[in-house]
Amino acid sequence: MRSVEVWDFATRAFHWLLAVLVFVCFFSGDDEGLAFIIHAYAGYMVFMLVMFRAGLGVVGSKHSRFSDFAYSWAEIKSYGLSVLRLRPARYVGHNPLGGLMVFAMLIVLAITAMTGIFMVAAHLSWLEGVHEALGSIMQVLVALHITGVIVEQVLTGERLIKAMVTGSKETLSDQTHQVPALAPAWRPLLLSAVVIAVGVVIFVQINFGAAVVTFSAK
Ligand code: HEM
Ligand code: HEM
Repeated sequence: MRSVEVWDFATRAFHWLLAVLVFVCFFSGDDEGLAFIIHAYAGYMVFMLVMFRAGLGVVGSKHSRFSDFAYSWAEIKSYGLSVLRLRPARYVGHNPLGGLMVFAMLIVLAITAMTGIFMVAAHLSWLEGVHEALGSIMQVLVALHITGVIVEQVLTGERLIKAMVTGSKETLSDQTHQVPALAPAWRPLLLSAVVIAVGVVIFVQINFGAAVVTFSAK
């Protein structure tokens, strides 16, 4: 066994900020008053975080790259069977089912946030039902995600949650050839600067702040 850093700081900061903000969205999905203003701003930040994660998926550290956890259906199926046999295969980064769940959550979050933004900024009230349905799907995905993490942690004894906090995992000796390469810090820094700039420009262009206040008062 040896300890390797699997999740860089950018990925961990992204994860816990995202989890907090998504829970805030779940508990503030009212359509008026202060709760709605909190919902809208938290949702807008989720939108920016997902853009940031999309960038990390291309220029981030080894195990944060999309190519690292985009598995074939055959691999997903055989991993699923190994879980059913209660002997899941071990992976340093996301396992095939986990990787699929990460893609699903990022895609659903992106569309949920965008439908919310369009509904309010472009007065597209027909998007309300779509947005609420996506919000409900997201609640199911998060429940499955947390259950999946706990089940894997129990079955393998691997401390996944701790790894998402500290970044490090104890890997099996036969996995050491997969020692991850961390991206230099300037990449997530530059990426966050670009994402914040794009987020602010869109916010101003669509007059989001005023649209949210108008919507909350109706
Ligand atoms: C709304 C809440 C949450 C959302 C939207 C969410 C979303 C995500 C996403 C997108 C990833 C992929 C990380 C990446 O590669 O960037 C991830 C991984 C992970 N999450 Fe969450 N998460 C949530 C809550 C939680 C909670 C409460 C826990 C702890 C119990 C948790 C534990 C983990 C762990 C351990 C991983 C890494 C899994 C692995 O080793 O492959 N998450 N989560
Ligand atoms: C990805 C982030 C988001 C998530 C997970 C999310 C989730 C939800 C959920 C679950 C509901 C339904 C609440 C309920 O019926 O009790 C809801 C409602 C709502 N959301 Fe979001 N939301 C997000 C982002 C946004 C954004 C950015 C906006 C834009 C301002 C927005 C605007 C609304 C509105 C207006 C409603 C109320 C619809 C109604 O009941 O009339 N959401 N959201």
